[in-house]
Amino acid sequence: MAWVRNHPRTVRGGGVHKTQEQRLKAQQRICKTQKERYEEQEARYMTEGYMTEEEKKVKLNEEMQQIEASFLVPKSKNFVETEAVKKYEDRVFLWLKAGYPMHLIGPTGCGKTALAIKVAEKLGRPMIWINGDEATTTTDLVGGYSKIETTSVHDRYIHKVYKGKDTIEPVWVNNPLALACKNGYTLIYNEFSRAKANANNVLLGVLEEGILELPTCYGVERFIKVHPEFRLILTSNNIEYAGVHKPQDALLDRLASIHMDYYDEETETKIVDAHSKIGMEKASRIVKTVRALREKMESAEKPGTRPAIMIASALQQCNGNAKEMYEQICVDAMASKFSSLQNTQKKTELVREYARKFS
Ligand SMILES: Nc1ncnc2c1ncn2[C@@H]1O[C@H](COP(=O)(O)OP(=O)(O)O)[C@@H](O)[C@H]1O
Ligand SMILES: [Mg+2]
Repeated sequence: MAWVRNHPRTVRGGGVHKTQEQRLKAQQRICKTQKERYEEQEARYMTEGYMTEEEKKVKLNEEMQQIEASFLVPKSKNFVETEAVKKYEDRVFLWLKAGYPMHLIGPTGCGKTALAIKVAEKLGRPMIWINGDEATTTTDLVGGYSKIETTSVHDRYIHKVYKGKDTIEPVWVNNPLALACKNGYTLIYNEFSRAKANANNVLLGVLEEGILELPTCYGVERFIKVHPEFRLILTSNNIEYAGVHKPQDALLDRLASIHMDYYDEETETKIVDAHSKIGMEKASRIVKTVRALREKMESAEKPGTRPAIMIASALQQCNGNAKEMYEQICVDAMASKFSSLQNTQKKTELVREYARKFS
């Protein structure tokens, strides 16, 4: 007897055999684009607050990358390379190439950080930085369990029965030193002597044993083997002032150090012009004013290259009245370092006198 198909086979109301068109549509649904998938995840997260393990990992990874990006040093801009700069540059580069940490010591605004960034760029590895101050702790250097990840599990296995479970799990976040040790970055630790000596203790293990210990981390992740390309550049101020802690001898003993001073007049003029585009002649007058005042002022009050750049940049904004404004601009650019009111009046007069002389 011949079998006759008199009605299409169905499963719960749907046809078993799909037409070519239906098959293509289904295929397209499976092959969603990355963007669609991401949008879907986002939408699900917004409406249900729920993410799969895989989605959670992707999100965490993105967040970690954002954190890391916030530590990354911007590229050096308008860098001036005169003979004096090149000499320092070559010395620092040599020590770093040899695998030693470098310590740049010098007065504020003499160019330590700019030099560190330039040499780190030359090394060709990503660079990352941290600025030391009174409140800097080991956690600021290495990282900690600073983020809490909440997971919600929605159990809907049985129809109409809802079971929810929230798990709170700490997540370790690496800070600059850990990131640099792990991935072989160049770490620039600015003003490291402003941090208390015990906050910097962690550097000893890194420099001596090549191991970074994360003191508050548990388990196998507690020890990080220092990447062979990891390099460290420290900067500090040689002028004693309140808030500076003497670094441990054991640490200083392991650093190659260079004592820097303000650059020569020609270099400073080129730096001021490079940053402000004011022209060499005007830059020269500003640098002469600043350098003359530097001679007259006490160590901590000495103006560095930064106020000279500030003066030039401010003058660039004056519309035709730069000459009248010069004295006032010079005073404003340097006044933050004057300590008392009495001192302020005296110093203001001094700045005005020199500004007039070189204007
Ligand atoms: N070689 C250089 N080329 C261009 N700009 C420089 C150079 N050296 C220093 N500067 C600029 O001078 C200013 C002070 O330098 P900085 O490196 O911040 O000093 P420090 O770290 O010693 O306080 C900054 O604005 C910096 O960009
Ligand atoms: Mg600096």
